Amino acid sequence: MIIALDGPAASGKGTLARQLAEHFGLRHLDTGLTYRAVAAALLARGLPLGDEAVAISVAQNLDLGNLDRNQLSAHEIGEAASRIAVLSGLREELVRLQRTFAEQEPGAVLDGRDIGTVVCPDATAKLFITASPAARAKRRTDELNGKGIPADFNEILVDLERRDERDSTRKDSPLKPAENAHLLDTTEMDIDSAFRAAVDIIERAR
Ligand code: C5P
Repeated sequence: MIIALDGPAASGKGTLARQLAEHFGLRHLDTGLTYRAVAAALLARGLPLGDEAVAISVAQNLDLGNLDRNQLSAHEIGEAASRIAVLSGLREELVRLQRTFAEQEPGAVLDGRDIGTVVCPDATAKLFITASPAARAKRRTDELNGKGIPADFNEILVDLERRDERDSTRKDSPLKPAENAHLLDTTEMDIDSAFRAAVDIIERAR
């Protein structure tokens, strides 16, 4: 069983993916972390983000078991991840790792931007999670403030919209719903109702 969750930044797909993995007894991979880990390694070494060969060699040494969102959550890392995510050779390498993860028993929940379209086109269930830009910016602002990190709603909104625009308009694997994806708009939903709606969709698709 493979569950594909795609959607824009801060749509809530990460939280949902974790909960669904636990509910269905599956492993979970947040594929955004694979792009973030490569970006963070390049930033830490002061290497250019456009050098595809270097990015690929970093990707080849990634340990999927050792990706920690807390260490990779910085705003600059998300921005750099979205910039390197346009490199097709890098995507190929990361997609290979992600597929290998997805195909191991007993199956997995993967969340990202291109899971239903590229990484796992034959997934058991595909969900495309959206929410209005304002709702997503508010959630991200509250999340950061909750951790004691000062965050400005308007700045976050502008950043999210810029990243969504880059992710949706890139040539290779743009952010878009797969043809047979179920759309779930969580603008008016809390985490519990989003979770229940997702479980319903998946139960029907099984
Ligand atoms: O989901 P997250 O915000 O951590 O992802 C960071 C960036 O990685 C995204 O903005 C996107 O450019 C890229 N990404 C991608 N494909 C995925 C997951 C993330 O291109 N499957």
